[in-house]
Amino acid sequence: MSIFEQLESNVRSYSRSFPAVFQRARGSVIFDTSGKEYIDFFSGAGTLNYGHNDERMKRRLIEYLESDGIVHALDASTTAKQEFLTRFRDIILQPRGMDYKVQFCGPTGTNAVEAALKLARKVTKRTGMFAFSGSYHGMSLGSIAVTSGRSVRASAGVPMAHTTFIPYPTGPRGAFDSLSYMRHLLEDSHSGVDVPAAVILETVQMDGGIYIAPAEWLRELRALCDQHGILLICDDIQAGCGRTGQFFSFERAGIKPDLITLSKSISGYGLPMALLLIRRELDQWKPGEHTGTFRGLQLSFVAASESLEYWRTGAFETSLRNKEQLLRGLLGDALPGLAGAELRGIGMAFGIDMAQAGGYERARRIQQRAFQNGLIMEQCGREDTVLKVMAPLTTPEEQLVRGCQLLVDAIRHA
Ligand SMILES: Cc1ncc(COP(=O)(O)O)c(C=O)c1O
Repeated sequence: MSIFEQLESNVRSYSRSFPAVFQRARGSVIFDTSGKEYIDFFSGAGTLNYGHNDERMKRRLIEYLESDGIVHALDASTTAKQEFLTRFRDIILQPRGMDYKVQFCGPTGTNAVEAALKLARKVTKRTGMFAFSGSYHGMSLGSIAVTSGRSVRASAGVPMAHTTFIPYPTGPRGAFDSLSYMRHLLEDSHSGVDVPAAVILETVQMDGGIYIAPAEWLRELRALCDQHGILLICDDIQAGCGRTGQFFSFERAGIKPDLITLSKSISGYGLPMALLLIRRELDQWKPGEHTGTFRGLQLSFVAASESLEYWRTGAFETSLRNKEQLLRGLLGDALPGLAGAELRGIGMAFGIDMAQAGGYERARRIQQRAFQNGLIMEQCGREDTVLKVMAPLTTPEEQLVRGCQLLVDAIRHA
């Protein structure tokens, strides 16, 4: 029995999907202890948008450590944070006309979601939330309350309240007119539902199975929130940092949410970091009102500052558009072997939905076969029927082609 089986809690999950002991990684390739090579179509669930061990970020980190740069400072001001904030303002916020304050949260995504929910309630003095069927926002209690999956909700062990779930405009049951439904709930004084503090959404449901909210729908949602004084929280933890083709996932709709959560790829290097962006007028926190010991691992700031350089010019976005087209073609070519399967995707987030093509069992067989072939990918969506294709954004085209070949081979033989 391995040390993992002997000692690590039963709660472990990815080690079951990817049964190997990993040792090294570079760019979009991971190596296990036997030296076997895997192409990464997983990206650490959205954390490695710039691949593994990016050379420039690694250099900066090594230099920082060698200079005895401060590693832990709670939320004190440091040169590493100063540089990150400056670049984030100059490269990301200002060019997009975004006037937001930055709150550094505890190190994982769910901390940023908790901060967003708490701040929305504080500012509006309301308790309720609107969230969407198919959503995933994290595993702490506030985040679970706005997460739709029954098994996740059951894991809380206490009643999950104060959330009204609205069907997403697109999903496994087809299109739904969620705007009319929300209008009805908000405008009928006898709807039985109070006006919420906020609507929390992913503009692309990632763990939910790669469902994409239409741009026009997002604009109308923004207008509806404005009309009723409801805050709009965009959870960009997985869809942000370029995954959908632009830095923020909502840019394609030309909207500005009131609160934006970022984590996963914001540090660039796979180091823990989570942010809440707050529309300036809404920054009504009192000093220390929401704290935490790890609000700013300095190494994360160092890598994050370097990662933002990818966005200084438009070249990276252009490369993402080209890779989106390439992937759409390559994955589309795989579909004829999969009667009933559906391909959905935007940017470099793609899903092959197997619900009508053999369901979970077939999806699992393909995922496992792909792993044996040397391709790492995960399953998502209801009952895990969707094969999720999420290569690092920096993956060279020839590796995208190679990874898709491994996937096609797995489809043929599973
Ligand atoms: C959209 C979204 N929100 C929140 C989270 C929670 O982030 P974390 O697992 O870092 O707490 C995730 C994680 O997958 C996510 O995809």
